[in-house]
Amino acid sequence: MAPQLRTPLCDLLGIEVPIMQAGMGGVAYGRLAAAVSNAGGLGSIGGIDIPLEEVDAEIRLFRSLSDGPLCVDLGFPANAPQGLDDVEVPPLPGPLRQLKRELDEHGVELAPTHDQAISLADNKRKLEISLDHGVEVIACGLGTPRWVVDLCHERGAKVMSIVGQAKHARSAIRNGTDVVIVQGTEGGGHSGDVGLITLLAEVLEFATVPVVAAGGLVKGDQIAACLTMGAQGAWVGTRFLASTEAGSEDVFKEAVVDAEYDSTLRSLLFDGLYVRMLRNRFTEVWEGHEDELSPYPVQRVLTMPFKYAAMKANLKSHMSLPSGAGAGMIIDIPGAAEILERLVTETVEALRSVGKTVQFG
Ligand SMILES: Cc1cc2nc3c(=O)[nH]c(=O)nc-3n(C[C@H](O)[C@H](O)[C@H](O)COP(=O)(O)O)c2cc1C
Repeated sequence: MAPQLRTPLCDLLGIEVPIMQAGMGGVAYGRLAAAVSNAGGLGSIGGIDIPLEEVDAEIRLFRSLSDGPLCVDLGFPANAPQGLDDVEVPPLPGPLRQLKRELDEHGVELAPTHDQAISLADNKRKLEISLDHGVEVIACGLGTPRWVVDLCHERGAKVMSIVGQAKHARSAIRNGTDVVIVQGTEGGGHSGDVGLITLLAEVLEFATVPVVAAGGLVKGDQIAACLTMGAQGAWVGTRFLASTEAGSEDVFKEAVVDAEYDSTLRSLLFDGLYVRMLRNRFTEVWEGHEDELSPYPVQRVLTMPFKYAAMKANLKSHMSLPSGAGAGMIIDIPGAAEILERLVTETVEALRSVGKTVQFG
């Protein structure tokens, strides 16, 4: 039994411990979210990458497994097209032609994909589906428009905004968000270039809503440091990616366990926005070819068939493997409840020993 750990955020979100499992495309589905919420944290479904029907099905699955609160993570980037057909796609650039040759050698065929992530219309529908199910919390990556906050509040849901820069925290607060999640450059997936400890201090200076820390957090000692600074909780991705309930492929989980401190990089190669991911052939082919990158969302439309083809073939060397810099410290693949319990225990132990080596006066 883990010791108790509460902050005012727990009352705001109806959770027992202030640790949240992050929304992650291809990783965070109903089963993982339920395991985390049942253990007292907040579980999330990564709703950006999956089709509408799957958002619906995963929320239903969660509700069948847990009575706890649920977060659905969605995206409303300002420059997103209404639909995929609005994106003009150029011919394949050199690095992708090279990847195609390599996939051919492995007998892996590119398949046309219907990418759900970038259509604003689809994301609006996913928000409606989530609110119809009474989802308690909506997390917004890549911008928090006021209409999203207003709609969520009307329907009784709280809003959390994931930001990588202080100015984005300011605008999310102006638009009425309930919680700001500051994600340092250490974070997996989309991440800015400011380190967590700096960004957290910066945002805590002006934030009028609870602030949650994210990015590279895989141990309670790190969470304790953030709570000591004034954060009210932690949003944890990669640590939960390497868990038994995560929907990530086994080879992906193993790649996280095998990762070392320098195994991740931040690159525009995935979708034209900076994403932290594990180095492999999928990233290596772009080295020295950065001038061939396209802006968001064109780059995403170009790389998506490669991502899905490698995933389907379980070809780890060519898969897209978003991961935080904390992967180097992950050495096992336990159940999500055990991960949560370890994080809570470590956080409490670290908080209890704060200042033990410090001498005053
Ligand atoms: C595999 C993976 C997929 C992710 N997918 C999404 C996503 O679809 N939407 C989103 O807002 N953030 C996404 N993220 C970012 C997470 O929500 C979270 O902010 C991040 O994982 C925190 O950093 P950490 O992984 O170092 O703990 C993803 C992260 C990972 C590792």
